[in-house]
Amino acid sequence: MKLQELKNRRKALVEKMPKNSIAILSSANRNYRTRDVENPYRQDSDFLYMTGISEPNLINIVFEKSGEIFSVLFRNNTSEHEKIWDGSRLENSDILENSGFSEVQSYDDYEEKILNYIIDKDSIYIESGLNPELDDFIYEKISKSGKNNRKNYIFPKKIVALHSVTQKLRLIKSDYEIELIKEAAKVSIIGHQEAMKKSKPGIYEYELDAEIKYVFNKNNMHFAYMSIVGSGNNACTLHYIKNNNLLKDKDLVLIDAAAENQGYASDITRTFPVNGKYTKEQALIYDLVLNAQEKAIEFIKPGVTWEQVHEITVEEISKGLVALNLLPNDINRVINEELYKDFFMHKTGHWLGLDVHDVGEYENILFEPGMVITVEPGIYINLINKKIPKKWRGIGVRIEDDVLITKNGNEVITKNLVKKRNEVELMCSASDV
Ligand code: GLY
Ligand code: MN
Ligand code: MN
Repeated sequence: MKLQELKNRRKALVEKMPKNSIAILSSANRNYRTRDVENPYRQDSDFLYMTGISEPNLINIVFEKSGEIFSVLFRNNTSEHEKIWDGSRLENSDILENSGFSEVQSYDDYEEKILNYIIDKDSIYIESGLNPELDDFIYEKISKSGKNNRKNYIFPKKIVALHSVTQKLRLIKSDYEIELIKEAAKVSIIGHQEAMKKSKPGIYEYELDAEIKYVFNKNNMHFAYMSIVGSGNNACTLHYIKNNNLLKDKDLVLIDAAAENQGYASDITRTFPVNGKYTKEQALIYDLVLNAQEKAIEFIKPGVTWEQVHEITVEEISKGLVALNLLPNDINRVINEELYKDFFMHKTGHWLGLDVHDVGEYENILFEPGMVITVEPGIYINLINKKIPKKWRGIGVRIEDDVLITKNGNEVITKNLVKKRNEVELMCSASDV
């Protein structure tokens, strides 16, 4: 990671905390799939944001003293045992230089050292749960602080949830972060294109999932979340990840899949016909969702709120469903009584960044340049919805793009992936050779 980027983040963190505060961050633990078989390591997003390092067993503290910013990393060098089983990691001296820490100290004796750093601070910004030993240590020291025990005298202290600060910092992306998200999106787009080209009746959902993951891995990326490859009625199951059904002629397939690049997620959904041609009903629903998505995106610019974006989407979807006689012919009632929720039951989008559903408040936040969001309306007519004429049932459509708020409006980061019906059909009929 760029050194200047890390320096900017440390400075911003210190500026957001009251004077005489200290932030204490812990790395994520290793995570096991079965007994001793590890999942790929994923760093805690806040820790990654503040250090750029993807390793377990680390603690980072950040504070300001006499106008200077200090960032101390606690980390052990590679043990002889590790060298044999897992290979060597960077030396602490390299980390010190590459990542611009003030000091890198041994993890083994962090307790005594941390105590020295927090002893004269008023507030400790920490997120409990990641490192129970560290949590216990801090809370024990603080609870003892009232006693007349000079060694442990660290009273008074205020403990504050670290995320209250980091979520504000992470909400506005730097140019560096935006570039990483764009690279992730670029690879995700290729994955979706491959899936469209490879789709045909008679193959399985997991085969399309595999095509997509192959593209991610070939580009040294990882999936940002478990892919949803839902054909037919599976598209109506919002969190469908089994991906084990056969693709059938005349069905749609909804694919919500995207790559993560150096921790930064993209998030894309497209819905296309298994056989490359939308049926009449599918086309009507598809165009309705697309219209709602495009109207919402058109409106997005600095100063706009999530509430407004959702309102536009709801209005467009409701009007469209009324026009198709799928909802009563009373638009005010449809909206006020939330009848549209039978078909569109989730929010229009979310923040995007180091977490797919990135950190940040939603209520009464005005969009600002540098924020990155998704816009992902959908209509889901589940087979179990017996109130609706049969010809509509089993159609699920979601269209999702990633949008950067810019000074004058917005930029659709994922705009290079086909979206208009005829373009999607064309992509489905294209082949690789
Ligand atoms: N892929 C997760 C979402 O769209 O929110
Ligand atoms: Mn999303
Ligand atoms: Mn998604």
